[in-house]
Amino acid sequence: MGFSVPSVDSSQPALSSTSKALPSPTALTTSRSQPLRRCFARACSSTSAPVSPVSAGGTREPLDPVRFLGNRSSGKQGYALARTAVQRGASVTLVAANVALPDPAGVKVVRVGTAEELRTAVREAAADADAVVMAAAVADFRPRHVAVQKIKKDAGDPAPVELVRNPDVLAEISGDRPRAGQVIVGFAAETHDALDHGREKLAAKGCDLMVVNEVGATQGFESADNAAVVLGADGSQTRIPYGPKESLADVVWDLVAARLPGLAR
Ligand code: CTP
Repeated sequence: MGFSVPSVDSSQPALSSTSKALPSPTALTTSRSQPLRRCFARACSSTSAPVSPVSAGGTREPLDPVRFLGNRSSGKQGYALARTAVQRGASVTLVAANVALPDPAGVKVVRVGTAEELRTAVREAAADADAVVMAAAVADFRPRHVAVQKIKKDAGDPAPVELVRNPDVLAEISGDRPRAGQVIVGFAAETHDALDHGREKLAAKGCDLMVVNEVGATQGFESADNAAVVLGADGSQTRIPYGPKESLADVVWDLVAARLPGLAR
């Protein structure tokens, strides 16, 4: 999954015209809500407890000691989420899968490689968290067999790579919440029919919010900007226009804060 749209034209819609037409947003949130910003930490159970694990980047599933199945996620959106949460006084564990960015100040960073490693780290950090945000692109499958030595081309034609399914971390945590009242957020990366797929994912995974964004060969995973529509399990729909990933992150935290028990409106 990834987090960008191709143009820097800020007048373009949140999702491109390849998507089905968007209904008018029912809850368009501005990106810098100062009251929520100030009381975000107070809304959580304890200002000293970890408030949220945020996963970022993309997992890599090894084929042999030098090769892997991976994706193009840069981790920038997850890092923006971590930075903006810390600015609000939250305590964040950033579970970073193969991200080449420097550690953000004030954030505990746990570096992972595979989906299984990410699952372990996120579940551990989620145990006493108020919110869980899954911005990472997690590989759905991994090779069944990992060669101990580098696969050599002179050893004959390669056998087909057999894949096995990875756990769905977001669905697992949503279906068996470590703490009551936790707000769980997923990110849906879609190349087409984004809102339809996003709605299906929201229902299938059972999270509270699904941030739907379009990705593709020309839609940069490395971009500093992004656009999205956030779908809520309560039927809400929040359009976030194209802009810096920090702005998108701020809207996501506003939506999370509004759903935390201590801040319910
Ligand atoms: N996710 C997860 N574990 C997986 C796959 C995805 O936790 N094995 C999470 C991602 O972190 C993201 C959300 O599920 O928050 C949606 O991920 P996405 O890649 O868009 O969708 P998939 O569930 O992988 O479905 P598909 O690849 O068919 O689009």
